[in-house]
Amino acid sequence: MINRRVGIIGAGSVGASAAYSLAITGACNEIILYDIVTDVAIGKAIDLEQSTNFSPSGTIVKAATTPSEMKDCDIVVITAGVPRTGEMTREDLLLINAKIMKEVVTDIQKNSPNALIICVSNPLDVMTYVCHKITGWERNRIVGMAGALDSSRMAYQISQKLGFGRSQTRAMVIGDHGENMIPVPSLSSVGGVPLTELLTKEQLEDIVDKTKQGGAKIVQHLGTSAYYAPGRGVAVMVEAILNDSKIMIPSSCMLDGEYNHSDVTVGVPAIIGRNGVEKIIEMELDSDLQNKFNTSVQTIQKGISVLKQNNFFN
Ligand code: LAC
Repeated sequence: MINRRVGIIGAGSVGASAAYSLAITGACNEIILYDIVTDVAIGKAIDLEQSTNFSPSGTIVKAATTPSEMKDCDIVVITAGVPRTGEMTREDLLLINAKIMKEVVTDIQKNSPNALIICVSNPLDVMTYVCHKITGWERNRIVGMAGALDSSRMAYQISQKLGFGRSQTRAMVIGDHGENMIPVPSLSSVGGVPLTELLTKEQLEDIVDKTKQGGAKIVQHLGTSAYYAPGRGVAVMVEAILNDSKIMIPSSCMLDGEYNHSDVTVGVPAIIGRNGVEKIIEMELDSDLQNKFNTSVQTIQKGISVLKQNNFFN
């Protein structure tokens, strides 16, 4: 990772927040933004680079006006896609975004053939699957960012209840980045003390519910989805890769037998380092958790089968 060059496709609020976070910490040498609306990429790149005067390292932030100007990136982050509007069904959205993904990923293969991909587009797990299938790359090279965000949201809910241990809270959310996501109190802790020792069953249930509603709550207030926490989630993954940190971040990974599933991308604890997903941690799940995990997988598989029925992969 000599270049420490990160491409970000989609310079909307999530892409720009990821770039800002990376520029502030000086995690990479160069960030290249691409957006279908060229002026958005150019304007935000200028603004972002001007923000780095007081940052630890002067990160270069450039705009690519064509996909081919985003060259030889170590990591490409994909945030491209459209949100659901008015008449659109979830299936319509799935097909529209999957087509966008196909184009974007084909460009990445051409221009940054050695890159790792972090997928952020929604529906997250299915779009991550699309990246795998279109590229055919080794499965460690493509990962979906969801667990980093959802576990931050869970940590927030935990500290709202406890009022202490903010920076010591470790929360675990696995499964899909959607209605069947699985915040797991028994795998979460504050300063090493299991959450189950600190809060009542009712409090834990409330944390689980509010974590699942975390994205919707922001939409309710802003009328648009979140971006600072998603952006930070992306940046944390980029930093783990560039610094070869090998830290555990729950992430959407392609399974190959883990947790009794294969050929599906879903949130599991993963070790993130220079090679992307360096290891998937396979935990012993009790039957309740395994059932929830199976339901989560089925939701994702349903999305994948919509694409298959529409001959998307042919
Ligand atoms: C969210 C979107 C960004 O959960 O996936 O806020």
